[in-house]
Amino acid sequence: MSVFNIWDKVTEDYKTVKADKYLGIFGYPIKHTLSPIIHDTISDEFSLGERYIPFEINCDLGDYIKSAYDSGIVGLNITVPYKEKVIPFLSDIDVDAKKIGAVNTLVRNDIGYKGYNTDMEGLYRSIVESGVNIKDREIIILGAGGAARAVAYMCKKYNSKKVYIINRSLDKAVKLACDMDDGLFIPLSADKYNNIPKGKYIFIQCTSVGLKDGDGLPLINDVEFYNQADFAVDLIYNPAKTEFIKFMEKQNISAINGLKMLLYQGIIANELWNDIKIDANLSDKIYTKLIKKLYS
Ligand code: ATR
Repeated sequence: MSVFNIWDKVTEDYKTVKADKYLGIFGYPIKHTLSPIIHDTISDEFSLGERYIPFEINCDLGDYIKSAYDSGIVGLNITVPYKEKVIPFLSDIDVDAKKIGAVNTLVRNDIGYKGYNTDMEGLYRSIVESGVNIKDREIIILGAGGAARAVAYMCKKYNSKKVYIINRSLDKAVKLACDMDDGLFIPLSADKYNNIPKGKYIFIQCTSVGLKDGDGLPLINDVEFYNQADFAVDLIYNPAKTEFIKFMEKQNISAINGLKMLLYQGIIANELWNDIKIDANLSDKIYTKLIKKLYS
């Protein structure tokens, strides 16, 4: 038998879980994932007999993908640090995921797994649900890492008017703008933020600033700059309110965190795995469970 047996990689709390069919997630670290709440709730609601298992993968990604396939695993999520690294191990890739350069969802087919990026559509759904339209809008993206890539592509796909990408290191912002291959994007280093014309913008915060207590506002320490927002998103959802979100709320600027994005990326992934449609009632039920688990 191969040394790469996916069941050796099940996270401690899930070792005794039994089901008719399995879904799962690959990542490292993976202990604190909330995704089992999303997918187990859907399985119970539709009587699918599925359970969602976190697999802690710290090496040999391709071999464990193969083992998951050979074990009959119906679908997988892929998270940090593998969203880009997984691409060579796919049998096919969705066009949007290919352009983003990152995959978070694997859907089983006859020869392997096809990769999708449901983070992008998940974020889009959460923004639309807030009553905001990004079409023809000017956007300021803070950050140029993995998460910002999906956000930039969302702006392109849904026809935003102009997108400023501000990052601590300019080279990554430039690379992201180039990779998107579109005149839409203007990369800037943090000290050049005053080059952005005064106006009203949608701000999307994609840096990791705010994860830790005392982090403060990301990148730019100028309240006038942030006051230009008429809608703001912080992809961070833990803590529920970063300094960025608290600032926006204090100024009466509508702002959301990344929890709805997490919810919808999971829902869209599950719709792909099971070929089902998940309605607003079930979405709300899952969202309530996520809030309870995270914030109470
Ligand atoms: P993710 O997958 O969450 O996007 P990532 O790819 O590591 O994670 O990207 C992290 C982002 O947060 C980057 O834009 C990073 O800026 P650099 O490209 O300059 O590294 C940004 N970031 C992290 N720590 C930061 C800090 N202390 N101040 C400003 N930006 C920071």
